[in-house]
Amino acid sequence: MKMANFTLHHLLPCLLFFAAPLVAFPASTPDDFLQCLSLHSGNAFAISKLVYTPMNSSYSSVLDITIQNLRFLTPFAPKPIYIVTPLNVSHVQAAILCSRRYGLQMRTRSGGHDYEGLSYLSEVPFVILDMVNFRLISVDAEDKTAWVQSGATAGELYYRIAEKSKTLGFPAGLCPTVGVGGHFSGGGYGTLLRKYGLAADNVIDAQLVDAQGRLLDRESMGEDLFWAIRGGGGGSFGVVVSWKVKVVPVPSIVTVFTILRTLEQNATKLVHQWQLVANKLPNDLLIRLILQSNNSGPNGTRTMQASFNTLYLGGVDSLLEVTRSSFPELNVTRQDCTEMSWIESAVYFAGFPKGTPLEILLNRSSNTKTFFKNKSDYVREPIPESGLEGMWERFFEEDEGVAQMIWNPYGGKMAEIPESAIPFPHRAGVLYKIQHITAWTTGGNEVAPKHVSWIRSFYSYMAQYVSKLPREAYINYRDLDIGMNNVIGSTSYKQASVWGKKYFKKNFDRLVRVKTVVDPENFFRHEQSIPPFSS
Ligand SMILES: Cc1cc2nc3c(=O)[nH]c(=O)nc-3n(C[C@H](O)[C@H](O)[C@H](O)COP(=O)(O)OP(=O)(O)OC[C@H]3O[C@@H](n4cnc5c(N)ncnc54)[C@H](O)[C@@H]3O)c2cc1C
Ligand SMILES: *[C@@H]1O[C@H](CO)[C@@H](O)[C@H](O)[C@H]1NC(C)=O
Ligand SMILES: *[C@@H]1O[C@H](CO)[C@@H](O)[C@H](O)[C@H]1NC(C)=O
Ligand SMILES: *[C@@H]1O[C@H](CO)[C@@H](O)[C@H](O)[C@H]1NC(C)=O
Ligand SMILES: *[C@@H]1O[C@H](CO)[C@@H](O)[C@H](O)[C@H]1NC(C)=O
Ligand SMILES: *[C@@H]1O[C@H](CO)[C@@H](O)[C@H](O)[C@H]1NC(C)=O
Ligand SMILES: *[C@@H]1O[C@H](CO)[C@@H](O)[C@H](O)[C@H]1NC(C)=O
Ligand SMILES: *[C@@H]1O[C@H](CO)[C@@H](O)[C@H](O)[C@H]1NC(C)=O
Ligand SMILES: *[C@@H]1O[C@H](CO)[C@@H](O)[C@H](O)[C@H]1NC(C)=O
Repeated sequence: MKMANFTLHHLLPCLLFFAAPLVAFPASTPDDFLQCLSLHSGNAFAISKLVYTPMNSSYSSVLDITIQNLRFLTPFAPKPIYIVTPLNVSHVQAAILCSRRYGLQMRTRSGGHDYEGLSYLSEVPFVILDMVNFRLISVDAEDKTAWVQSGATAGELYYRIAEKSKTLGFPAGLCPTVGVGGHFSGGGYGTLLRKYGLAADNVIDAQLVDAQGRLLDRESMGEDLFWAIRGGGGGSFGVVVSWKVKVVPVPSIVTVFTILRTLEQNATKLVHQWQLVANKLPNDLLIRLILQSNNSGPNGTRTMQASFNTLYLGGVDSLLEVTRSSFPELNVTRQDCTEMSWIESAVYFAGFPKGTPLEILLNRSSNTKTFFKNKSDYVREPIPESGLEGMWERFFEEDEGVAQMIWNPYGGKMAEIPESAIPFPHRAGVLYKIQHITAWTTGGNEVAPKHVSWIRSFYSYMAQYVSKLPREAYINYRDLDIGMNNVIGSTSYKQASVWGKKYFKKNFDRLVRVKTVVDPENFFRHEQSIPPFSS
């Protein structure tokens, strides 16, 4: 592997406080940063054509295009001084070097799906390194591996794999527009999780540029850092340029169904029963649950609607045998089921109607952007029916269709992987994960306080039913409510460990040790990045 051929200027040791300049060269004029980039980006493509400032007419469209959460798509949100869209590794290296030199914070963005917008927002002067041009995907169907650059989306990866073979797939997110840069960094789950685990469980090599600007691979970064980047969360250890993954076998025919049941159709009992069976089903069967309120009850009254959203890795005949023996209460019938290829199921789970061309998976703006606030929980004991009824009552206090929960069953492969194998620790003993959602399209940011306060109060109600000490949470569902966040420029292990233990349990301490070795000056940082031990 080719290594960086420049060295960083000596850095001052005091880096704990941002107000003290990182280095001796404050950004006096914008040109200094740009000149620095040109100077350090080697003979590659002229970097000035890849840098946007607010003076460039396309600055806003480049900034806004991948912002997923409309809450942060406002003129009042903090804006970057520069957006750098590298084409070559040398551009990534130059962006790191020059951001350090001029005391600018750098935020790396791949797909822009961070729930709290940490890949494109900062309270201090900052640069966005946008990996949008790093999109190459090369699939080796024979070897069952692929290299995928970090700016590619999960949908692009699925599509390129399917181009090579209809019996290969990859266990990453249901939403095709998530960027693999952030998504794999935090774990990454989708319809294949009970069979093959997370995306990060299937990463076998990576290229990363570290805070010194060195280009590293698995061998040169060593097993500790390679461990940390597979689930320790994006934006803490370096810039991932590309991942090498194992692609996995899928049958040529899979079966899907989505069965809706309301309270009048015994949804409460079915949801309760689901908790007892969903994590014990064969690994080939994933039944997710989507819960929301609906005004379709008797005489237009409020009811709850439970959607049993399912992928089976096999044909309809064997699916019906499995559901009859393991979840007869759901009464799955042949008419509920549709057979298709795995790649078609990726389109189905992304929410597109049957017959939508597969090319929709290549469309980076295909999902509907909304205003939202999501949170997560892990459930280790079934919630009693009375607890479910309490949840429905609270749903009825929120506007119709705004609140949602998505329950994803674990078990299978997820329970077999040890908690310390990668930083993602939610394994054996987890029945399912809850994603709490409040998402609205009308009323804009004006109504945000109302919806955000609803979800916070719902989350408090749920405390009695979910994992405790720590109350576990999924790093890819980033939530700035769950502990005191890093004050940019100062770091406290003790403060960070509150959210750190929720996301990573005991793995948090190892992440801090790795960070202390590879980025002791805390160049890669954000409100919930892994802090180094401070001296
Ligand atoms: C609509 C929607 C659907 C989703 N569906 C799923 C799902 O099905 N399954 C699931 O597991 N998750 C899902 N997520 C969550 C998603 O996995 C995380 O938000 C993930 O971090 C997104 O990665 P990204 O590259 O798109 O985000 P970004 O916002 O670009 O990045 C997220 C974080 O990673 C850092 N980062 C980005 N690129 C790099 C890089 N190249 N190197 C190092 N750090 C980097 C960023 O700085 C930031 O801290 C969904 C999110 C949304 C908004
Ligand atoms: C830089 O990237 C471009 C586009 O990917 C490629 O054509 C070119 O060869 C690269 N140059 C170097 C020096 O790597
Ligand atoms: C932005 O504007 C500057 C100054 O006109 C120009 O040099 C640069 O190439 C522009 N950037 C892009 C990406 O077009
Ligand atoms: C709901 O459950 C009751 C009692 O178990 C049963 O009699 C009834 O048929 C069920 N209703 C539906 C729609 O399945
Ligand atoms: C509400 O229920 C009706 C009838 O089952 C259904 O057609 C509609 O799609 C549901 N609304 C939502 C928001 O899911
Ligand atoms: C629905 O409304 C009709 C007419 O008002 C009434 O007769 C009926 O009892 C109502 N049904 C229920 C389930 O409330
Ligand atoms: C199962 O579903 C079928 C078709 O919808 C229906 O006819 C039958 O009554 C249901 N059986 C039970 C036990 O609910
Ligand atoms: C991508 O999807 C969006 C929303 O569905 C659509 O408006 C747009 O035309 C699509 N773009 C392409 C290139 O297909
Ligand atoms: C989180 O909220 C978004 C915004 O509406 C919603 O579309 C999505 O369902 C949630 N995320 C995931 C992964 O489902």
